Amino acid sequence: MPPPTNVVEMKQIVKRFPGVLANDHVDLDLRQGEIHALLGENGAGKSTLTNILAGLYRADEGEIFVNGQRADIGSPRDAIRCGIGMIYQHFMLVPSQTVTENIILGLDEPRFFLNLPKAEKRVAELSNQFGLKVDPRAHIWQLSVGEQQRVEILKMLYRGANILILDEPTAVLTPQEAHELFETLRSMTAQGRSVIFISHHLDEILEIADRVTVMQKGRVTAAGVSPKGMTKNDLARLMVGRDVVFALAKKKIEPGDVVLEIENVRALNDRGLPALQNLSLQVRANEILGVAGVAGNGQRELSQVITGLRPIVSGRIHLGAYDLTDHSPGEIFNLGVGHIPEDRLGSGLASGLDVMHNLILRRYKEPPIARGISINWGVADKVSQNLVATFDISTPGVHTRVGTLSGGNTQKVILAREISTRPDLLVAVHPTRGLDVGATEAVHKLLLQQREQGAAILLISEDLDELLAISDRIAVIFDGQIVGEMPAENADIEKIGLMMAGTSAETK
Ligand SMILES: Nc1ncnc2c1ncn2[C@@H]1O[C@H](COP(=O)(O)OP(=O)(O)OP(=O)(O)O)[C@@H](O)[C@H]1O
Ligand SMILES: [Mg+2]
Repeated sequence: MPPPTNVVEMKQIVKRFPGVLANDHVDLDLRQGEIHALLGENGAGKSTLTNILAGLYRADEGEIFVNGQRADIGSPRDAIRCGIGMIYQHFMLVPSQTVTENIILGLDEPRFFLNLPKAEKRVAELSNQFGLKVDPRAHIWQLSVGEQQRVEILKMLYRGANILILDEPTAVLTPQEAHELFETLRSMTAQGRSVIFISHHLDEILEIADRVTVMQKGRVTAAGVSPKGMTKNDLARLMVGRDVVFALAKKKIEPGDVVLEIENVRALNDRGLPALQNLSLQVRANEILGVAGVAGNGQRELSQVITGLRPIVSGRIHLGAYDLTDHSPGEIFNLGVGHIPEDRLGSGLASGLDVMHNLILRRYKEPPIARGISINWGVADKVSQNLVATFDISTPGVHTRVGTLSGGNTQKVILAREISTRPDLLVAVHPTRGLDVGATEAVHKLLLQQREQGAAILLISEDLDELLAISDRIAVIFDGQIVGEMPAENADIEKIGLMMAGTSAETK
């Protein structure tokens, strides 16, 4: 067999940010036709490295070779000229335009020469060639998140990318969509394209990666190893240098009084369509109720009506003796409701402020941080430092801007803030999305600890393994209703899957 051809070689890449050595002499080679996974803890430097290759950041030191030629990549435009395309996590599509219009947007050819039917035909060809199902004439606002991601991929293929970088592409996808994405990636590599794939899901890496490069604190600790024959534990050990517990010990506790009671709630979604249809559920103290469901079945609206971010049309929501209906988010927080929202940078955090301000956002009006009408910054500083240590948030310091933290560490800031106020009810939406295995384990332990201390927890997740691992009961949401409920112990995964798909009309 001829030796593999390297389409990309990154050599001794160094990238510094204030207080952080994000890439410390990193080498990476990508072979033609392979899926190369990048694995590493939150803040290890994966996104930084791929952002350098995609022309978003410039390396302080090091060299990049593409197809054997030294490449000077100073912008995304340079990158695409070298055949390198990056699929971003936050899509940058124009909602009012069609798929094809978005794909040709920003191309060098003057608009005047654009031939829309011809472009549509090309988009349809590419979509067939790689199994990227999407209607070239559909408007972006009509598309699901998974379909929008396909448009981003098509956009890069249209521009002639043969090296694709996907940074945590499955974090926003349903399991079904993730499966379809993998089919596409396989068909791309079979046709000679090469892929760099970042994910925290070890199962996914074992399933589709040909080789894996592991990073730790800016350095490569395993370069291009084959995951064949490896287990999840082998990968986790490479990454965090210790064993990770995938099955947690859950103490047996009898649930206490009902803390959250939702009765026949109806609510609308952003488009004014019914999102919650007579939904009822209860969560007790010392209990985790896991809500399983395919995204878009009312999960977001459910978390929003409880936390005061969305009005209800009818029904009742009670927190112990209090009626939560028509209370503001601030009042509801004061009544003892913590919220780990789905949208971290939107409703979760003020990304322009530093870590400390974000951590104390909920508490600056109370002693010890409040001192009369002013703030005791010394205490605020100390409280934040403690939270950073307890929650193992990797940041140069508490005065670092939250917007510069890595994805996973951003999430930890929210968790630290919401859990440290010891809420009676915690509404956790995808609490471990984007977290590395070590951090996921830590969050699961924290949630279980909250449960032992008497909190009622509503856990909304699409990750069945997560739901089964830490919930006491599982409720399945479909089309804005709870269509079934069962103890998590011995729960039948297949049955849950069917209910999630709406094929079983069983009710509790
Ligand atoms: N624009 C930036 N400004 C300042 N620091 C940054 C910037 N981008 C990244 N960093 C820092 O560089 C380090 C590496 O971050 P990076 O985003 O590459 O990590 P990652 O491996 O992708 O982590 P995650 O799994 O959480 O996404 C982190 O400490 C991060 O805070
Ligand atoms: Mg990242």
